[in-house]
Amino acid sequence: MTEEKKKTFERYTVTSALPYANGPIHIGHLAGVYVPADIYARYLRSKERDVVFIGGSDEHGVPITIKARQENISPQDVVDKYHYMIKDSFKKFGISFDVYSRTSDPIHHKTASLFFKKLHEEGKLEEKESEQFYDEANNQFLADRYITGTCPHCSYEKAYGDQCENCGTSLSATDLINPRSVLSGNKPVMKKTRHWYLPLQDYEPMLRQWILEGHKADWKTNVYGQCKSWIDQGLQARAVTRDLDWGVKVPLEGTEGKVLYVWFDAPIGYISATREWSEKTGKDWKPYWKENDSKLVHFIGKDNIVFHCIIFPSMLYAEGSYILPENVPANEFLNLEGDKISTSRNWAVWLHEYLEEFPGQQDVLRYVLCAAAPETKDNDFTWKDFQTRNNSELLAIYGNFVNRTLVLTHKYFDGKVPGTGDLQAIDKEVLEQMAKYPQIISNSLENYRFREALNELMNLARLGNKYLTDCEPWKIFKQDPERVKTILNINLQVCASLAILSEPFLPFTSEKLFRMLDLEPLKWDASAKGDLLKEGHNINAPEFLFSKIEDEAIQNQIDKLINTRKNNKADSQKEPEAFKDDISYDDFIKMDLRIATIVQAEKVSKTRKLLKLTLDTGLGTRTVVSGIAEFYNPEDIIGQQVVLLVNLKPKTIKGIESHGMILMAENNDGEFVFVQPDKIVNNGGVIA
Ligand code: MF3
Ligand code: ZN
Repeated sequence: MTEEKKKTFERYTVTSALPYANGPIHIGHLAGVYVPADIYARYLRSKERDVVFIGGSDEHGVPITIKARQENISPQDVVDKYHYMIKDSFKKFGISFDVYSRTSDPIHHKTASLFFKKLHEEGKLEEKESEQFYDEANNQFLADRYITGTCPHCSYEKAYGDQCENCGTSLSATDLINPRSVLSGNKPVMKKTRHWYLPLQDYEPMLRQWILEGHKADWKTNVYGQCKSWIDQGLQARAVTRDLDWGVKVPLEGTEGKVLYVWFDAPIGYISATREWSEKTGKDWKPYWKENDSKLVHFIGKDNIVFHCIIFPSMLYAEGSYILPENVPANEFLNLEGDKISTSRNWAVWLHEYLEEFPGQQDVLRYVLCAAAPETKDNDFTWKDFQTRNNSELLAIYGNFVNRTLVLTHKYFDGKVPGTGDLQAIDKEVLEQMAKYPQIISNSLENYRFREALNELMNLARLGNKYLTDCEPWKIFKQDPERVKTILNINLQVCASLAILSEPFLPFTSEKLFRMLDLEPLKWDASAKGDLLKEGHNINAPEFLFSKIEDEAIQNQIDKLINTRKNNKADSQKEPEAFKDDISYDDFIKMDLRIATIVQAEKVSKTRKLLKLTLDTGLGTRTVVSGIAEFYNPEDIIGQQVVLLVNLKPKTIKGIESHGMILMAENNDGEFVFVQPDKIVNNGGVIA
């Protein structure tokens, strides 16, 4: 990605994907969408640009109706519960939406209906008949998610009509073998239905010109690449209505039981939210969506790219009065401790839980999620990294620098900002460097390089920290208090600059730092000046900005995840495996099974799973390498009797010759346990 086109904009419309209100939100959401969007919006405000930052809950769609059925409550109850919960988490993490709306709001139903009506009236939608699965017992059409059956690819019997969760293939309901309705369990029938379609193929020339030619240079390569591949594959008409009773009703006569498709109404939710904001603030919403000098930017995750780059722009273009997004800086996915974040497997760090477990430390998570944001590729969140970034970066560099500066100012000058004397080369150098940071960080932010921007912010803290350490004012105060005045003055100016430039990234820290410096919050461009704190200005008592995160807190989090993994394993216990084919007695007696006793056990170095065991077989000893280190400690199993297959051909494992195999049984947790005689048997005792 290179420099964005040098066009100047009067105002900014910044949207962030509307999360589905069918569950709480987790670090993946924050890292992928809301932290970068918030940094961007806060930065623009600090630059005194005119910005509206939009958020809200996506409250329609089939998964919400399924959740409601499962919990035996109404879809509205489901979305009410999660909308407020999500809104609260965002607020506590400082996500500074100008409005946080929801798609079940009447203003949204009105906006989405009007949008559809206009397209319909202007002949921009095609009406088509098709056949869809229908449940006769419940008298309703079935969304793909409401149909299960056998996957044609892997034979998994509980595949859904849109996807097989066993092999991950995306399906359409008609692919399923032996389809059944989730509602009644019956075999659905095919029934004719009518729907409205947006002819995406009509917009191909516009999309080619706008994206493939116009945004090759300034869109992220992952985003541009996905768009190109969609367009090159050929676009087709897409149904924008569904047979469902939860959503925005199709605003046409004789369409009972039909609603707008969730991906049609949800992005219009950005517009509805802007209208809601407009009603509250009295500002006109229209320029933000309709004037060419407005810059529209969508923050989303990579699974939303096609909707925000192809479908929604085609809708906006078809409608005719809207602008198109200037950029869609989609992120990749964040993994957690090496595994994909998953709501159903509870493999996530939930924001509401973090807030309880790390109270007052929202900025630490914001920092870590920005520093490790999946900007160009999927990235991994680990608790160890979280701890290191807090202890060795935020605390050791930023916190330590600010704290030393403020403590020394109180110690030597009673908390009054000292004036400067003659500047030495090193002082000038620091001031000169400092003055460059606002521009350096701006440049990264304007190009959606948030990790780089944050690293530059830390470089400013590093600059201050190094200057302080190099000058060692505590060593020279006695001989040369005048010199110390200059040093501390400059350090205090760096602190003030940090307070300003940190605000988009670390809003709580920035606020605290302004308070400690007894400064009113200042805007971005002020931070280049080296004289924000005047001589004689009184600063407040220092407080700690960050605190050490101990190993124990991290271990607790890791243990929690280990437990989740165990529970998941137990839950996923499949039916017992089917029996193997019959064998002859002759085949069976070829196996020489004996009782043996473990006499030595040690871990095989550089492996996680393997133990090297020495067994007394009654006819000498044997060495066997066994994959049980996850289940048994070597010292605990000495003296145990086990069943050993003695005539299995020897095999060299990790350089050790292993001769024989110990029989194990798998228990409910996926853990392996020894098969043992229930009375002591002589070693070498035959099993028959
Ligand atoms: N709810 C969708 C998701 O979480 C995002 C919707 S974005 C919007 O993937 F544009 F439709 F609002
Ligand atoms: Zn499958």
